[in-house]
Amino acid sequence: MTDVAKLDLGDKKIDLPIITGSEGEKGLDISALRKETGYITLDNGFVNTGSCKSAITFLDGEKGILRYRGYPIEQLAEKSSFLEVSYLLKFGELPSKKDLDFFEEKITSFATLPEGITNMLDQFPKDAHPMAVMSATTAALAGFYPEFLKTPLTDVQRDRAFAQMLAQLKIIAAYFYRRSQGKEPRRSHPSLGFSKDFLNMMFFEEGKEIDDEVAKALDILFILHADHEQNCSASTVRVIGSSQANVFATISGGIDALWGPLHGGANQKVLEMLEEIQAAGGDYKKFLEKAKDKNDSFRLMGFGHRVYKNFDPRATIIKKQCDIILEKLNIQDPLLDIARGLETEARNDDYFVSRNLYPNVDFYSGIIYKALGIPTEMFTVMFVLGRLPGWLAQWKEMREDASSKIARPRQIYTGANERNYTPFSER
Ligand code: ACO
Repeated sequence: MTDVAKLDLGDKKIDLPIITGSEGEKGLDISALRKETGYITLDNGFVNTGSCKSAITFLDGEKGILRYRGYPIEQLAEKSSFLEVSYLLKFGELPSKKDLDFFEEKITSFATLPEGITNMLDQFPKDAHPMAVMSATTAALAGFYPEFLKTPLTDVQRDRAFAQMLAQLKIIAAYFYRRSQGKEPRRSHPSLGFSKDFLNMMFFEEGKEIDDEVAKALDILFILHADHEQNCSASTVRVIGSSQANVFATISGGIDALWGPLHGGANQKVLEMLEEIQAAGGDYKKFLEKAKDKNDSFRLMGFGHRVYKNFDPRATIIKKQCDIILEKLNIQDPLLDIARGLETEARNDDYFVSRNLYPNVDFYSGIIYKALGIPTEMFTVMFVLGRLPGWLAQWKEMREDASSKIARPRQIYTGANERNYTPFSER
């Protein structure tokens, strides 16, 4: 089979090499297109554009497949832990017990925040959106660790950035939550394990222990969110990182991209939507009609995905976890009934079926977070904590690739042609 595609532009012809990925997916290498023909490509929303080669995550949206470093998400969710998955994303292989212990010890060594950062956290209004707090404080860490401003970073520094951010961002999130509740922040005890330590910092009460099964459920949620190849926030991380901006600024940009309601912000919006339906008497069919109405900007939050056009494998696992957690905590949540009703109705409705709109990762995660006592405004923060190792792995892969270039897309200009400046008196 030919390994080039031939593009005929009349007076200009070019052979475009065909690139084949390890799962057989095909792409056209257009690196020489502009230089040789003067043409660029136009691809709104990068729907057809591969921005890089990557060995971290594979997903097949048609078949509902998601694998980190080759391992199916279902197996990792069942058998692994969030820190082991973080190691896997970073290094490409599952760790030996000794390697994992060493990795965890490294994270443990960053169990505190600089005093300047806690002072900064104390200054935010109690009702500040926690994503604003996460983004600003993550960027501010660069002011406290100037050694990370030098470029290029050494391997040791890159390792340290990975461990330090995994440890410190969860402390920032829990610290601000306690402050917003008028409670004294709690110290991190990383020996509890990532998720239990986080829940302990959030919800510590004298004489009450965080349940292991609950911590495990949160760990699974973090695993499911850990990476998703070149989505909006990971691409943002790569674009910012491509300028060799420092790692804190780079991840802060990823947090901002995730915040949007069409991306990670959807989990907060799903719960708000379910509450709105509940307040309106629970008539979810009315909301389905709104979502279908092209004159109404309302969308069914937690439904649809740019890549998954069959089902989102993460949603399947989360739905199961949702049942387990609600039963374990003995919670009857009417919002869950509304969610189930919406799903069943939508999956039998031609509008949603014909457009391949299925529940995505955000549809049921909010109900679990709510059951765990996480406030709605913090749902996207939970996504940040889960996605962090993925962003860091994407950043590391890019910075270690000698062929990577600063991201600088082109455009097709559609504005005014050259014209002369006119003084105020003539306007
Ligand atoms: N409710 C109603 N209609 C929808 C929805 C929805 N949730 N999602 C897509 N559609 C419709 C669109 O109106 C469009 O219809 P048309 O062909 O008649 O014009 C068609 O389905 C295709 O939608 P696009 O917006 O072109 O699909 P795209 O791939 O660009 O968007 C997205 C994907 C942003 C996720 C979209 O489905 C959406 O807005 N979903 C709701 C928000 C959400 O849940 N986001 C979280 C995604 S997962 C994540 O980021 C972690």
